[in-house]
Amino acid sequence: MDFKEVIRVIPDFPQPGISFKDITTLLKDGEMYRGAIDALKERVAHLKIDVIAGPEARGFVIGAPLAYALGVGFVPIRKSGKLPYGTIEAGYDLEYGKDSLAVHTDAILPGQNVLIADDLLATGGTISTAVNLVQQLGGNVVGAAFLIELELLEGRKKLQDVEVVSLLSYEV
Ligand code: PRP
Ligand code: MG
Repeated sequence: MDFKEVIRVIPDFPQPGISFKDITTLLKDGEMYRGAIDALKERVAHLKIDVIAGPEARGFVIGAPLAYALGVGFVPIRKSGKLPYGTIEAGYDLEYGKDSLAVHTDAILPGQNVLIADDLLATGGTISTAVNLVQQLGGNVVGAAFLIELELLEGRKKLQDVEVVSLLSYEV
């Protein structure tokens, strides 16, 4: 399946110089959406996964269906202030801007094998923050799975001890 054909690229959004990969055009196509999740499922089939964690918001639309397909649980990693129970939090820099992420303190049990899933690996700021939070809870990060990787931003370098799987790659 040619997933790139249904991903819309918007130049200079949300600011000049950013080439935004708009996956809404893939998500609304049932065959393509299912095809992408199934392809990711195959790519992580060799990993032993107890639970998938995904960062809000676009990590939910990749991580949750992947968890369903694998028959494992899903842990939302949310932007700060959204989760109602006790949390741990961490701040990070984005390709554009700053943010912080939080996870419930009881979301992951020590020793659980965690796959982190998101739509896009750019600078790696988001995903390394997610890795950090999962590890703080004692989780064992067995991999990170993405629909898209922006290769020239070298986010992969921030994930040196984690197996990185991406379905599609763009330069930037
Ligand atoms: C986007 C994207 C990834 C992240 C990648 O999320 O969904 O999570 O940026 O960039 P990075 O590798 O440089 O961290 P964004 O923070 O824009 O928010 P959203 O998922 O809520 O749309
Ligand atoms: Mg995101």
